Amino acid sequence: MATIFRDLSYRYQCLYDAIARLAALSVGGNARFGQLAWANLTVSAETKVLDLCCGSGQTKQFLVQYFPDVTGLDAAPLSLQLARKNVPSANYVEAFAESMPFGDCHFDLVHSSVAMHEMRSGTIATNL
Ligand SMILES: C[S@@+](CC[C@H](N)C(=O)[O-])C[C@H]1O[C@@H](n2cnc3c(N)ncnc32)[C@H](O)[C@@H]1O
Repeated sequence: MATIFRDLSYRYQCLYDAIARLAALSVGGNARFGQLAWANLTVSAETKVLDLCCGSGQTKQFLVQYFPDVTGLDAAPLSLQLARKNVPSANYVEAFAESMPFGDCHFDLVHSSVAMHEMRSGTIATNL
């Protein structure tokens, strides 16, 4: 989403969702895109999941169907505000991915979608 629409789409969720839905058509639609990352993993309901750079909850709506313990982390207060409204059953943390307030091995699974392109290489901690 690194286009002229980026700032606008972060401000207006309907625009973000429309672009995301359009882009997801290439893999079979939004629901399939939202589940692709863990489709072939062996996971249990006790799996503690971090949705890194969760945005306003686009993927979390699918994550919470599989995992009861999902935490969304994002640096943008507006995105988190929308996420809390869109997916109230998840936990939320406002922080930068580069300095997360969690101890080592706090999560079993880290999920992230459509976010790495926004970071400089080599900046994310790997001690989850
Ligand atoms: C394109 S959105 C993706 C949202 C969601 N994961 C999805 O699949 O639609 C990227 C998100 O990454 C967040 N983000 C970008 N850089 C970040 C960083 N360094 N730390 C935390 N969040 C970051 C932005 O605030 C934004 O909500």
